[in-house]
Amino acid sequence: MDKILIAYYSRPGQNYVSGIIVDLIVGNTEVVANKIQQMTSGQLFKIDTKNKYPVDYTETTRVAKDELRSNARPVLTNKLMNTDDFDIIYLGYPNWWGTFPMVVFTFLESFDFTGKTIIPFCTHEGSGLGNSIRDIKNCCPDAKVLDGLALFGSVVSKSDSQLEKWLETIK
Ligand SMILES: Cc1cc2nc3c(=O)[nH]c(=O)nc-3n(C[C@H](O)[C@H](O)[C@H](O)COP(=O)(O)O)c2cc1C
Repeated sequence: MDKILIAYYSRPGQNYVSGIIVDLIVGNTEVVANKIQQMTSGQLFKIDTKNKYPVDYTETTRVAKDELRSNARPVLTNKLMNTDDFDIIYLGYPNWWGTFPMVVFTFLESFDFTGKTIIPFCTHEGSGLGNSIRDIKNCCPDAKVLDGLALFGSVVSKSDSQLEKWLETIK
């Protein structure tokens, strides 16, 4: 049996969903991560930053843009146990400025993913996976990176059948 990890970053608080600002109690990517956990019985790992982002959407986009420009590596709050414990890593993130939040770079560079299979999933407001697959491959050249799944933030709560079909096709 493959040992499965579902690692994800997701930010609750104000966000744009279908063109309007809403206050998300649970972030869109976290909703998807929880569903994948239930469908695969994998182990969840929340990627989180020591310094939290503002609740305000526009302020967060500014901070995130500065981090992207400066190629920042935000500090993780928690360390992953041994990556030897997992064969398959579902990696979830929101699209931020065309790729994943910089803390996901921190995560990918903090552990050895040699020989692992990484299965990306992303939530977004129109840009899909952006450059994120390229960026995962650059961070983890010795991992097998599968085509990812991109879901609009507005559809995550009703994505069960799409997720089931996707999981079936990548089996
Ligand atoms: C800082 C920031 C930058 C974003 N940049 C993009 C973007 O470039 N393209 C896009 O489609 N959506 C963008 N979004 C929207 C998010 O990808 C989308 O709302 C996502 O579902 C949020 O997931 P979360 O609730 O798990 O954090 C951005 C949101 C934030 C907060």
